[in-house]
Amino acid sequence: MSDQENTWRLPATDDPDEWVVPPEIDTSRAHPARIYDYFLGGKNNFAADRDAAEQVIAVAPSAVDSARGNRAFLGRAVKFLAQAGIRQFLDIGTGIPSAGNTHEVAQAVRPDARVAYLDNDPIVLVHARALMTGDGRGRIAYVPGDVRTGPDLLDLPEVREVLDFDEPIALLLLAILHFVRDSEDPTAIVAGLRDALPAGSHLVLSHGTADFDLAQGQRGTRIYDRATAQLALRPHADIEKLFEGFELLDPGLVRLPLWHPEEEPPHDHDPDLVRMYGGVGRKT
Ligand SMILES: C[S@@+](CC[C@H](N)C(=O)[O-])C[C@H]1O[C@@H](n2cnc3c(N)ncnc32)[C@H](O)[C@@H]1O
Repeated sequence: MSDQENTWRLPATDDPDEWVVPPEIDTSRAHPARIYDYFLGGKNNFAADRDAAEQVIAVAPSAVDSARGNRAFLGRAVKFLAQAGIRQFLDIGTGIPSAGNTHEVAQAVRPDARVAYLDNDPIVLVHARALMTGDGRGRIAYVPGDVRTGPDLLDLPEVREVLDFDEPIALLLLAILHFVRDSEDPTAIVAGLRDALPAGSHLVLSHGTADFDLAQGQRGTRIYDRATAQLALRPHADIEKLFEGFELLDPGLVRLPLWHPEEEPPHDHDPDLVRMYGGVGRKT
């Protein structure tokens, strides 16, 4: 990351189209983090992102329900683990801050919960640093990093300052691995991270799939072909392999709304239209 990106701060206006961003931040091509922000109803996206998001919605309307269902799963899974005693979270593929960020959910249960956020998109980190300040009780770090780097990420000093590798850590890989191609070997990436985590650590993973509607999945994937990261939707069996070395906790790898379902029906999406799998595993 260049010095310019490091020092760039969110401008006073909250209209991204009026921002003058450093040249390293490419606003001319759609970016998955900002497309996702648009699906969630956020404003931190540019014209190219909105165009791509609208194209996806036109061919795969369930994308909005899937994004919102994914965010709801994040909240339930983090709360579940915090209630089970986990107080350290490594959230790779942070996303632009939205409702129910990891540290907010975790610290609502355990005020001393610590979170290291990693993302490979500089604009995500700018937003994260500006908006996810926490209340100072549990430490939070925002670290530039690419999941494809694997376990070396865990040696970054900013990560080590926040996370204690003698104590269990929840590794969050939510809606990120479908941006990693087969040729980049997502199974080996997760295995490398798993091996570096202490005993009792957990994996929280969600992943897009075309299992429920192949045609919609293929049409949506084609739009991401022109974005900065391509989409690799995977079948259930391939996603389950990512949990190798983890014991999948009840109810296993399921369509997201079926994982410890919400008590109240969600108000912002239709659970029946969520086309992503997710689960939580414990390192064996
Ligand atoms: C769809 S968003 C998901 C955000 C959040 N995890 C959630 O589930 O709400 C995907 C995030 O992963 C990030 N991302 C994509 N590829 C990545 C990579 N190779 N390394 C690190 N982050 C990546 C994107 O920048 C984006 O912020």
